[in-house]
Amino acid sequence: MDHDGRKTPLPKPSVQFLLFILATQLVNATISTSSCDFPAVFNFGDSNSDTGGLSAAFGQAPPPNGETFFHGPAGRYSDGRLVIDFIAQSLGLPYLSAYLDALGSNFSHGANFATGGSTIRPQNTTRHQSGLSPISLNVQSYQFNDFHLRTQTIRKAGGIFKELLPKPEAFSRGLYTFDIGQNDLTGGLLLNLSTQQVKASIPDILGQFKTVVKNVHDKGGRYFWIHNVGPIGCLPYVLEHLPITAQEMDKVGCGNPFNELAQFFNSKLKDLVDRLREELPEAAITYIDIYKARYTLINQATKYGFEHPLRACCGHGGKYNYNTQVGCGGKVKSCKDPSVMIIWDGIHYTEAANRWVFDHIANGSFSDPSLSLQMACHRN
Ligand SMILES: *[C@@H]1O[C@H](CO)[C@@H](O)[C@H](O)[C@H]1NC(C)=O
Ligand SMILES: *[C@@H]1O[C@H](CO)[C@@H](O)[C@H](O)[C@H]1NC(C)=O
Ligand SMILES: *[C@@H]1O[C@H](CO)[C@@H](O)[C@H](O)[C@H]1NC(C)=O
Ligand SMILES: *[C@@H]1O[C@H](CO)[C@@H](O)[C@H](O)[C@H]1NC(C)=O
Repeated sequence: MDHDGRKTPLPKPSVQFLLFILATQLVNATISTSSCDFPAVFNFGDSNSDTGGLSAAFGQAPPPNGETFFHGPAGRYSDGRLVIDFIAQSLGLPYLSAYLDALGSNFSHGANFATGGSTIRPQNTTRHQSGLSPISLNVQSYQFNDFHLRTQTIRKAGGIFKELLPKPEAFSRGLYTFDIGQNDLTGGLLLNLSTQQVKASIPDILGQFKTVVKNVHDKGGRYFWIHNVGPIGCLPYVLEHLPITAQEMDKVGCGNPFNELAQFFNSKLKDLVDRLREELPEAAITYIDIYKARYTLINQATKYGFEHPLRACCGHGGKYNYNTQVGCGGKVKSCKDPSVMIIWDGIHYTEAANRWVFDHIANGSFSDPSLSLQMACHRN
């Protein structure tokens, strides 16, 4: 119709014209796909993303942890922020409170169930024996279920509770992030299992991971952001505990057998993500190749302004400035300039390395599908 309301005969559209329309619509569909505006982040994991869980349960991570950014211990095993902190920050959300932290927590925009030393499978050793946390992924899942149910009841009381607890839509529109599995591999190796034996346990490990993802989906979660396992063979604590021969080292000095194990785990995790996409057609699941991001940084440290890629910043002696008996903290201080170091304490990464990894994963260049963090609610 014309603006004056008169009907005009429609011209017969040419094939070219129709193709043109189709093409512009496709372009528009891609461009106008809007940012997800995640109202919350719920995280499951180990020390790579623990923002205070282990500290709340078993005592604070000692200084100099936290020195660079928080100017004191902040429940994190790093001199500053973790990748999960940069994720929350870039989504415009506050840093995540640990579910286990009874003091000063604000869960209005999510919660963090991760604890240092967590595994996917429950372990048969105590934390004292192995350093592994009893708060394995299944326990984090129970905690999430409790959180999901009880926050909504408590929120109805109004007042301060309304301010501190998530709205119901935070659960359906929130981003569920996972960064766990590394300790299932290293834990097995440190208990003297061979890499073959650890490999044989991976189907069971991933079966338990799948159960937890499906539980979150049952509770209404739809957007998943899953980190794979990093290059464990480049970590001083692995290299010091499990000596390898020169032939087993790659050109950077990382242990091939351990990195191969991590990559094997990751390929199976990737297969699982593909299966989950089929089984959960309403879910958007992004798989992030943290291994590749971290290994790229370690392998090309100088190019990116870092030094001594395999040496701990906060440590004590030896080839890697890491001692299996004396950890970071107390008399063991940090290095002069953590901002040029990658490894923090022999097990974890510095804020500078975490920031580098975040900057490189956020735009989707290490993701499958290659969607940026802001777009991770869209199914490809
Ligand atoms: C909880 O955090 C949100 C988001 O940062 C903030 O708006 C709110 O004021 C906080 N509530 C309290 C009681 O601190
Ligand atoms: C712990 O022991 C149980 C019972 O023997 C076994 O099924 C399970 O796989 C063990 N867990 C680990 C992590 O080895
Ligand atoms: C693993 O083997 C080493 C070397 O033989 C031994 O010292 C250590 O106690 C063993 N660890 C466990 C958990 O069996
Ligand atoms: C993603 O960000 C990194 C770091 O800023 C940059 O080097 C890279 O080129 C970006 N990749 C894409 C595909 O935009």
